[in-house]
Amino acid sequence: STPVILDCDPGHDDVFAIWLAAGHPEIDLRAITTVGGNGRLDQTTYNARVAAHVAGIAGVPISPGAAGPLVRRLSTAGSIHGENALGGPELPVPSVAADPRGAIDLIRDTIDAAEQQVTIVATGPLTNIALFARTYPDRLSRVREIVWMGGSTGRGNVTPYAEFNSWLDPEAAAIVLDAGPSFTMIGLNVTHQALVTHDVLARIDAVGNRTAAFGVELLNFFNSTYETDQGMPDAPLHDPVAVALVAAPGVVTTARTRLDIELHGTETAGATSVDLLNTLGRAPNANVATGIDAGRFWEMVEEAIRALS
Ligand code: BDR
Ligand code: CA
Repeated sequence: STPVILDCDPGHDDVFAIWLAAGHPEIDLRAITTVGGNGRLDQTTYNARVAAHVAGIAGVPISPGAAGPLVRRLSTAGSIHGENALGGPELPVPSVAADPRGAIDLIRDTIDAAEQQVTIVATGPLTNIALFARTYPDRLSRVREIVWMGGSTGRGNVTPYAEFNSWLDPEAAAIVLDAGPSFTMIGLNVTHQALVTHDVLARIDAVGNRTAAFGVELLNFFNSTYETDQGMPDAPLHDPVAVALVAAPGVVTTARTRLDIELHGTETAGATSVDLLNTLGRAPNANVATGIDAGRFWEMVEEAIRALS
């Protein structure tokens, strides 16, 4: 199985990324780090602990990193994720404590302790990973791959051309893209095919354990805010798609291509320029997701939840 560090900003879909990573047999989840994004850092850290508590995930350290973007101001996603970044269910007080090391040193220690290269899956703004790359450049050769939910080959969701994770900290995304390890982007063009339909809700509900019950409450809230805010009654469950790509090669298809992050656009900051037709003639620098087997994806999510508490 693949050793994985999950960097996230829970967030409804981040919680499912945690659960898929913890419950899938091909993923060895070694650490969870949190970043300000969908909510403030204190909220995303608390919510990660709640996700672990509900699912009975023990022995995976959880540590907070950056409170906000490298140079821009933090702007949270309350209209989608609620005021506490995890609207819907009543949140239990988590028994899982936060690890005092901080995200950057937890990533370093996890990499140093691993017997093989480690995969980093990031499902929020890339602030922590950029800071890690700048702080410990000598550790980057021990990173097998960085897989990021963010960006889009087409339009955005927070501005016409920028996706939230990319828009919040584009400077961090540009640093990580350039850092050295293989970089894979899973954008809205693919995650908008991972839709929480009535059938998906019914199947998760039928799993019947505590994680499933909590998850259904999360998904009902997520569907309602997505309908109000984005006109999508079946919300896209973005973040676990990044975990699925690592867990089961083939579920998500990718293209080797040129990716650039817009840093200076007056209307387009955070837009991801994906040169699928190689119009610019630049060397490819990323793998960009182009398709998903949504049926297999949801089977994986369902099976992972079944394997948890
Ligand atoms: C991304 O933004 C957040 O709201 C979600 O958790 C996901 O990571 C989708 O644009
Ligand atoms: Ca997220």
